[in-house]
Amino acid sequence: MSEGAFKRYMITSALPYANGPKHIGHLAGAYIPADVYVRYLRLSGKDVVFVCGSDEHGTAIPNQALKENTTSQAIVDKYDAQIRKCFVKMGMSFDIYHRTTEPIHHQTSQEIFLTLYNKGLLTEETSEQYYDDEAKTFLADRYIKGTCPKCGHPSAYGDQCEKCGTSLSSKDLINPKSTLTGNSPVLKLTKHWYLPLESYEPWLKEWILKSHQHDWKTNVYGQCKSWIDAGLQPRAMTRDLDWGIKVPLPDAEGKVLYVWFDAPIGYISATRALFDEVTSGHYRFSTPQRDFTGSKKDDWKTYWQDKETKLVHFIGKDNIVFHCIIFPVILHATGEYIVPDNVPANEFMNLEGDKMSTSRGWSIEMHEYLEDFPDKPDVLRYALLTNLPEAKDSEFTWKDFQAKNNNELVAIFGNFVNRAFVLTQKFFDNKVPALGDLQEVDKKALADLKLFPARISESIETYRFREATSGLMDLARLGNKYLAETEPWKLAKTDLPRVGTILNIALQIAANLSVMAEPFLPFSASKLKTMLNVGSTQWHHAGTGDLLAVSHSLGESALLFEKIEDEVIEVQIKKLFDTKKKMELASQPAAPAKQEVSFDEFSKMDIRIGKILKAERVEKSKKLLKLQVDTGIDTRTVMSGIAEHFAPEDIIGKQVTILVNLAPRKIMGVESQGMILMASDKDGSLKLLSPGAETAPGSVIS
Ligand code: 2FM
Ligand code: ZN
Repeated sequence: MSEGAFKRYMITSALPYANGPKHIGHLAGAYIPADVYVRYLRLSGKDVVFVCGSDEHGTAIPNQALKENTTSQAIVDKYDAQIRKCFVKMGMSFDIYHRTTEPIHHQTSQEIFLTLYNKGLLTEETSEQYYDDEAKTFLADRYIKGTCPKCGHPSAYGDQCEKCGTSLSSKDLINPKSTLTGNSPVLKLTKHWYLPLESYEPWLKEWILKSHQHDWKTNVYGQCKSWIDAGLQPRAMTRDLDWGIKVPLPDAEGKVLYVWFDAPIGYISATRALFDEVTSGHYRFSTPQRDFTGSKKDDWKTYWQDKETKLVHFIGKDNIVFHCIIFPVILHATGEYIVPDNVPANEFMNLEGDKMSTSRGWSIEMHEYLEDFPDKPDVLRYALLTNLPEAKDSEFTWKDFQAKNNNELVAIFGNFVNRAFVLTQKFFDNKVPALGDLQEVDKKALADLKLFPARISESIETYRFREATSGLMDLARLGNKYLAETEPWKLAKTDLPRVGTILNIALQIAANLSVMAEPFLPFSASKLKTMLNVGSTQWHHAGTGDLLAVSHSLGESALLFEKIEDEVIEVQIKKLFDTKKKMELASQPAAPAKQEVSFDEFSKMDIRIGKILKAERVEKSKKLLKLQVDTGIDTRTVMSGIAEHFAPEDIIGKQVTILVNLAPRKIMGVESQGMILMASDKDGSLKLLSPGAETAPGSVIS
């Protein structure tokens, strides 16, 4: 369908798993581009609904509960709250941010499952599935890991390899292991309901390969084509699990819907919940971004079932098969729903030369960024937008983040706006001056300005958000260039009316920036509007030199962006490496246990609490400290190899653990009469073993 043929837009961002914090790579993939698109549509006066929510089912949730020693419900409550808060702070303008644990979602998912079941479109099959004999459970999806048969990645999950994106079935894994116990699983019979994807091949070929060859992104189209060409297989839509949406059939005890069956239906339930809330006035999850007056409870159907709705899913590349093949087949098979018009999936964003990963500690979590830069959501939006992994993986570096802020937002955008404001305050009492006769340079600036709305629209409508963002910065560049060419500050003494003309045009450019920046930099655009003392303007009014009337009073000016110093960036880089190291150490196994000793052997050792009275370096030795220790029995000399870890002055007065009956030995000519016990950490650092509370020297450790 051509663009004009659509009456309304249904826009979705992938529902993030509520099993942990989300990082800036997620923001770059499925969220910020979607928000730009939606804000642009709203500014263009389109009828649009934008939904998202937490994906709270699947094995990822109980897996995390196991790690945090808590319940699945506690996990989703914790991370849903964290993620939803971060999205608000980042300016994500969802009409609703819902949750898949909500009853309306369970109901919607079960209804759609039953629609397919009652139409005879699901096949029932009993087959052998992996089972963990110790945990007494079947091993669905993320409960099982093994080597990917396609790329050799050693930690592929039972349903997907996160490295190469291949969609798997657990039986494809090489050397599978239970993630619950680490055991090799056994095979056991169980019944499930399958979606026969292969029956939809002709439809998929027609719909994707023929109809969307030219408007879908090459990476998305290419992935779909290779799956379809390889031949599709039936895919189980149910799982043996105790966390999820119950399979609504009588003979399905202990079975839930597959998370990838219910999660995308979450978009529909979220829309349903939105219309429930806006028509009842009882808001729990929604923050409607437009006027829903006159809407009816059932209007959600128009957004999902009317052919004149344009449905667009924003996702990361690991979700392509689910949004382009499996979910559309489900929607199509019901005979009631529309299918997406486009799925502009992004590739991945790497970080400082390596893949972003929360579990490896190599990531910038949204909540951490917002804690460190609470007033800079737009700077991150800009740094991500100018570097989106649209066609191939991209790379975020802190240095680039700093450069984008200092050299573009501050030096171009902020500097231009600031100059226009300062001069207007100085020479025109903060009011928009009159426009006099136009010179060539003015006409050229106004003519160039006129081209921007269409140029940026074209990029946004074709999902080229990097290009759209450079378009915006080019508009600020135009403003800067215009001021540099006309040099109004030099003319104030000789030709004030000419200065007025220049500033009128400069302020009109600033006003245009406040309109066109809104999708990209919503917080700064709003600040700029306050400075200009103007309300919201629709996109189609932009591009003109008459957004501000002559004599209009400007508001108070402020700096739109601030320089970020090198030290701030260095702290972030250090934090990144420190976190990675910490995670690596935490994941290293402890040294294996030593050979068994008898109690009698152990009790031969006389270990006491002692107190270090004196500590001094030993001449010609880098490693040794000579200690005087009060053992409670006596005061004795101990030579200890800890000089590289402790300064003498730092350990004097410390209580330690000392083996007092170790046979004396001469070390560097001094008799050592015991041994101070230490813990050697995984990173090689030494820790003194001190009692938890002040303890009398000589106290026996047993
Ligand atoms: O990859 C993920 O994080 C999934 N939770 C995305 C789900 S998108 C949609 F289907 F809900
Ligand atoms: Zn793989």
